[in-house]
Amino acid sequence: MNEISLIQPDDWHLHLRDDGKMKAVVNDTARQFARAIIMPNLAPPVTRCEQALAYRSRILDAVQPRYSFEPLMTLYLTDNLPPAEIEQAAASPMIHAAKLYPAGATTNSDAGVTHIDRIDAVLETMQRVDLPLLVHGEATAREIDVFDREKAFIDQTLKTLRQRYPDLRIVFEHITTTDAVDYVLSQNDRMAATITPHHLLINRNDLFKGGINPHHYCLPIAKRETHRQALLRAATSQPGKFFAGTDSAPHSRSDKESACGCAGIYSAHAAIELYAEAFDQAGNFEHFETFMSIAGAQFYQMPLNQKKITLQRKSWTVPEQLQFDEHGLIPFRAGQDIEWTLIPASAGSEAA
Ligand code: NCD
Ligand code: ZN
Repeated sequence: MNEISLIQPDDWHLHLRDDGKMKAVVNDTARQFARAIIMPNLAPPVTRCEQALAYRSRILDAVQPRYSFEPLMTLYLTDNLPPAEIEQAAASPMIHAAKLYPAGATTNSDAGVTHIDRIDAVLETMQRVDLPLLVHGEATAREIDVFDREKAFIDQTLKTLRQRYPDLRIVFEHITTTDAVDYVLSQNDRMAATITPHHLLINRNDLFKGGINPHHYCLPIAKRETHRQALLRAATSQPGKFFAGTDSAPHSRSDKESACGCAGIYSAHAAIELYAEAFDQAGNFEHFETFMSIAGAQFYQMPLNQKKITLQRKSWTVPEQLQFDEHGLIPFRAGQDIEWTLIPASAGSEAA
């Protein structure tokens, strides 16, 4: 297969940051995707509807007029969020989910939830008003090995969440293990998962190949090859349960190439092409459109996009560095070739 046309995809998990950094990256996403679920882990976090709506306006102001891009806003759950805020979020056509960061799990998660018992009233409300819960699925206890944190989260927290709130819609974000794939497949249609392009393309060896590589460090951390293979099988052969969420997470080059480097991989510059490479590697594009453009919208109960995009098997070279702050941004696959080229929707045709 050398050319694929599909409904324009959405990115169901994206970090845009704010201010000048956001302005530097947002059009990479707007060029590719029709909509994106915007992560609320700013500093300070987006915990209130009013903040989410103000952030949305700032994003829209930064999008070039030639793109029609819709940011789908989320709230950051803390131990102290009033349930009334959830009711307000559910009533807003612009707020689509709330995000559970276990406190200390990842970038800007210090204000996150210390224990799910602390947010019982909020979760009850989310179940009642049918607002999806997005989980960063990693246990945080010091003694749990960093490679086992996803499985520990399933055993310690996710199973309890599912039992207590069986009707709550949950997205298990950026899954990285066979354990997560199997768990999601064992659950009903109230649960789905996102998979990033980088977890489909790299394994943990890529963190250390030829020396330590901070640009392959993200959370959850890349796992061993058998897990990557399980993710690839899930994405390519289980339509409906798994969908695209890039977790594109830009950090300044100086924050990545540091004695204590930040977690996060930037993939928005080439996200759809990278997913195409992964599906190509599996030799199976049968469910590509479902994974990229249909399953997520269905889970979030939103209409499918109208426009179409085309991908061509034509290689191009990723720039060594992108604009961001005074230190720049190193994109995923910097200086290397990507085998697929996107013909974006703005240059393409409306779907029939
Ligand atoms: C994300 C970030 O930088 O905001 N980092 C990452 O490694 N994925 C946070 C997150 O989603 O864990
Ligand atoms: Zn993320």
